Amino acid sequence: MTMISVENLSVTYGDLVALDDVSLDIDDGEFVTVVGPSGCGKTTLLRAIGGLESPTTGRVSVDGDTPEAAQSAARLGFVFQDHTLLPWKTALENITFLRKMAGKDPDPEGARDLLATTGLDGFEDARPSELSGGMKQRVAIARAIHLGADVLLMDEPFGELDEITRDEMGVEILRLWRENRKTVVFVTHSVPEAVFLADRCLVVSGTTPTAGATTDDGVGRIVGEFDIDLPRPRDESVFGSEAFGTQVARVRQALHGDE
Ligand SMILES: Nc1ncnc2c1ncn2[C@@H]1O[C@H](COP(=O)(O)OP(=O)(O)O)[C@@H](O)[C@H]1O
Ligand SMILES: [Mg+2]
Repeated sequence: MTMISVENLSVTYGDLVALDDVSLDIDDGEFVTVVGPSGCGKTTLLRAIGGLESPTTGRVSVDGDTPEAAQSAARLGFVFQDHTLLPWKTALENITFLRKMAGKDPDPEGARDLLATTGLDGFEDARPSELSGGMKQRVAIARAIHLGADVLLMDEPFGELDEITRDEMGVEILRLWRENRKTVVFVTHSVPEAVFLADRCLVVSGTTPTAGATTDDGVGRIVGEFDIDLPRPRDESVFGSEAFGTQVARVRQALHGDE
């Protein structure tokens, strides 16, 4: 079943075409990654799916509704690079607060369980300033899941983390995804990360076919789409496999256009 449908979406800012005629469908429960260079329109695409950005032309629907309707029903969860935790609230309060704001039934036990399964047992009462970068992102992910969102929109959530923590977080997010059966759209500029996580990896390029364009000129388009058929569940051992290397090479080739 289709969860997210993007039809002929274009977003322009003045003269700048951030997204040009993008169409895609994402199935319920699918894990889709979007990879591309800086400035190619990844965040714009995610924001349009989340109802934070209006299409200039085209349309987006989430489970048959407008993104705005999905958002106000708390069916969308956002996880950004900047974790956006409230500094004066504890880890546990940060997780429960959004759900409370959304008017859903409180579920303090569920929040505690999530904290524990995200490896934050014992940090319920810690403030964000007392947590490492990886821990803060775990809280932000737990918060989105606790909200009860069907769709998780993640914009380079591990971008600020060191590489080892990043790999661990990748394994972690896959485990949470397996257990909670969300639809995930995950934006990254890391090709290995995009391949490791995905059922399907979309390659976005900002390069225009016209001469003289640079990758920072906007005009984001989907230039490649790859089904990632690596076996699941996946853990760090995947990184060393030949199949993984082959997939990464294919995505890189689409990204750099040197086929
Ligand atoms: N609110 C805005 N106003 C004007 N230009 C914007 C705005 N948001 C993004 N852009 C431009 O749109 C292009 C795509 O941006 P973005 O979606 O943030 O790319 P990415 O996330 O891939 O780095 C960039 O050239 C960026 O400068
Ligand atoms: Mg971005």
